[in-house]
Amino acid sequence: MEKLLIKGGNTLNGEISCSGAKNAALPMIASTILNNEKVIFKNLPYLQDITTMFELLGSMGADISLDESMDFSISCNKLNDLEARYELVKTMRASILVLGPMVAKYGYAKIALPGGCAIGSRPVNFHLDALKELGASINLKNGYIEAKADKLIGADIVFEGVTVTGTENIMMAACLAEGITTLKNVAMEPEISDLADLLNKMGAKVQGAGTEMITIEGVKSLHSAIYSIPADRIEAGTYLVAAALTGGEIKINSIQPERLHIVIERLKLAGATINSDKNSISLSMKSKRPLPVDISTSPFPGFPTDMQAQFSVLNALADGNSVVQENVFENRFMHIQELNRMGCNISTQGNQASIIGVRQISGAQVMATDLRASASLILAGLVASGETIVDRIYHIDRGYERIEEKLSYLGADITRLPG
Ligand code: UD1
Repeated sequence: MEKLLIKGGNTLNGEISCSGAKNAALPMIASTILNNEKVIFKNLPYLQDITTMFELLGSMGADISLDESMDFSISCNKLNDLEARYELVKTMRASILVLGPMVAKYGYAKIALPGGCAIGSRPVNFHLDALKELGASINLKNGYIEAKADKLIGADIVFEGVTVTGTENIMMAACLAEGITTLKNVAMEPEISDLADLLNKMGAKVQGAGTEMITIEGVKSLHSAIYSIPADRIEAGTYLVAAALTGGEIKINSIQPERLHIVIERLKLAGATINSDKNSISLSMKSKRPLPVDISTSPFPGFPTDMQAQFSVLNALADGNSVVQENVFENRFMHIQELNRMGCNISTQGNQASIIGVRQISGAQVMATDLRASASLILAGLVASGETIVDRIYHIDRGYERIEEKLSYLGADITRLPG
């Protein structure tokens, strides 16, 4: 299994570009199932999760090709196998995103139930309840969801809890339902608006994405579109924290700064000087030790759970104490034990981590448990004395494009070791 070797102590300086957002790209790729015509994507990130989504669509009969400009075309006009098998679903929970489009377009889907994962049980009951309200019948049997519908009919749906992929799934399904659907208590993450934007480019009628209520007027069919995947706000946030931790000065290009509003605010409280313009963010933290910043995660526009692990490291090295509260997933502190092995002083109780800032941590051999936990271990390695080896980095390859190249370019000493 490949590992990352990091020799800590270097300051990160320089300029990098952000890659396309995984969490925007995954539902967009799933949405092509709704369409008989070709959809072309620009700026798709080269990530394991994207490959898994391609494999999933490919296994159902989709035609996926890469052209000379590195744009991907997807045609779903010949899907012949309406099943998402466990072997693929177990490697990526976001596979559930094909459910809504499949039922809407083909009236049938058989999808392996995603199991629990390192960060919590992550059920899909909100997706299924909403799909039932659109008229689908759902059967759970032998570890699979079987959904059927002669046709979906628009409905007024109030989600029991805020769910990102759940909102996306039902928004996609409603595009081909008969009549009007309203969705309330929806997720408002920027990726929801991005998906609505693509759906509308394909001829759907979606309004209100990014607000508390989304209205979708069903249409009979969708048509071809070309779409460029927007920048990954979590990737950008991770590099900003990395620079802040090492006392560096970096500029991140190709990013929409307003999507990182709360992350930028918290970094300023930690002592960073931040300037943004339309498409870039610059951070400077010249040799200052970070100040502690309390964090409490919640759905957008709140502080993203996907940035919690990275900020925990920033706080662990801060000049003072802080509290980090995780409100979205019940078990998202798996990185803490590994961070403590490197010399951090963090104790957890329930969904709360109490962090006593330390001046220095030391390199160790550590194990990644999930995507953002891996990122936090790499960040810790950048400031630890000596060598850190991060094991199980397949987690990081699911969501960070060429991370060791980007960090090396900024001045880090980081190498991928073969498995
Ligand atoms: C998405 C993101 C993930 C991010 C998360 C929260 C993608 C591909 N992934 O995951 O990176 O960390 O949003 O911002 O976009 N829940 C239920 N029942 C459901 C659905 C969710 O109880 O049917 C609970 C979950 O267990 C969790 C909370 O709701 O506690 C939020 O989960 P959700 O927004 O659905 O996360 P994902 O869409 O899986």
